[in-house]
Amino acid sequence: MALLDIRNLHLSMRSFDGEAHVLNGINLTVERGEIWGIVGETGCGKSLTGLSVSRLVPTPPGRYLAGSIHFDGRDLLQVPDEEMRRLRGRRIGMIFQDPTTNLNPVFRVSEQMIDVALHAGAVDPSILDVSPSASRRQRRIAARRLAIAMLDKVGIPEAADRIDDYPHQFSGGMRQRVLIAMALIGRPDLLVADEPTTALDVSVQAQILRLVYDLVQDYRLTVLMITHNLGVVAQLCSHVAVMYAGNIVEAGPARSVFKSPTHPYTRALLEAVPRASQKRGSLFGLAGSVPNLFAPPPGCRFAPRCPLAEPRCTSGFPETVMVGPGHRVACVRAEATADAAA
Ligand SMILES: Nc1ncnc2c1ncn2[C@@H]1O[C@H](COP(=O)(O)OP(=O)(O)OP(=O)(O)O)[C@@H](O)[C@H]1O
Ligand SMILES: [Mg+2]
Repeated sequence: MALLDIRNLHLSMRSFDGEAHVLNGINLTVERGEIWGIVGETGCGKSLTGLSVSRLVPTPPGRYLAGSIHFDGRDLLQVPDEEMRRLRGRRIGMIFQDPTTNLNPVFRVSEQMIDVALHAGAVDPSILDVSPSASRRQRRIAARRLAIAMLDKVGIPEAADRIDDYPHQFSGGMRQRVLIAMALIGRPDLLVADEPTTALDVSVQAQILRLVYDLVQDYRLTVLMITHNLGVVAQLCSHVAVMYAGNIVEAGPARSVFKSPTHPYTRALLEAVPRASQKRGSLFGLAGSVPNLFAPPPGCRFAPRCPLAEPRCTSGFPETVMVGPGHRVACVRAEATADAAA
């Protein structure tokens, strides 16, 4: 059974302008140990997909119109709130875009981490490694020990001293490491990371990605990594899903998608990545912008910007075609290949 199985997920968001259909039939199956990169232009629904898995989309204004999100066999859209809270602290870890919004500036890092560790330990006592009859004080001591060990693991020097600092006493890269430590303290099976390195400078980005990669190996994590950066995906991810205007237009093993990008949008994204060998001035940019989701174009949502669009593209939603093992594309021009079923 797949660890995560998102089926036909439709989500709308209500605002002053009306109701926008922001996720339009998302399908994504993630097996244990896979690292998925979710890419696409701003506003295409990457964060809402990640937030849906953690069930953190506020409803209202959000409304799930159809679909399911099975995590280890249970539909997250159906589990009671209390159970969802337990899953979030324990089995699904999360790191979001901006570190300053995730650590509370008025509490010491130790207090915040101990809180998370105690919460996870209440669901699964083995995390704190204390007997079930342990006193509050003993559990707190164990939680502090675990928090220090996690900070050490993510590369915070002198973790035992630094843990009592406030968030502002850490640099941006260090704060991001603290957040990663917090996300992993409950030993989750699935990590959802939304742009975890965007706010950091390039050399620190590389360190954090290296860290995530090492932790994935050590903890046998499964990851949904949301990013704008195709370079990150190429370095880190085993699989990639390309989103456009609320749809996954192409998905599959990263190697296959990079080698044979098939959807015109995926190709445009890849061509927009600068290469050192490129002649000055030859950088390709995709014209136009993501469609208005209050009144999406009929048929393929990419058709209005697609250099290869044909009349049939606007008449109906494109079927998904397998173009290689595990590699699927939603484009009328894509042709199924014989080895796709393998
Ligand atoms: N709370 C909300 N209320 C109304 N609309 C929303 C809300 N959150 C997101 N949206 C809309 O849903 C769409 C998808 O948003 P989402 O945040 O998932 O995009 P994204 O792919 O993560 O973009 P980015 O790369 O900029 O982070 C956007 O059009 C956005 O305006
Ligand atoms: Mg986002």
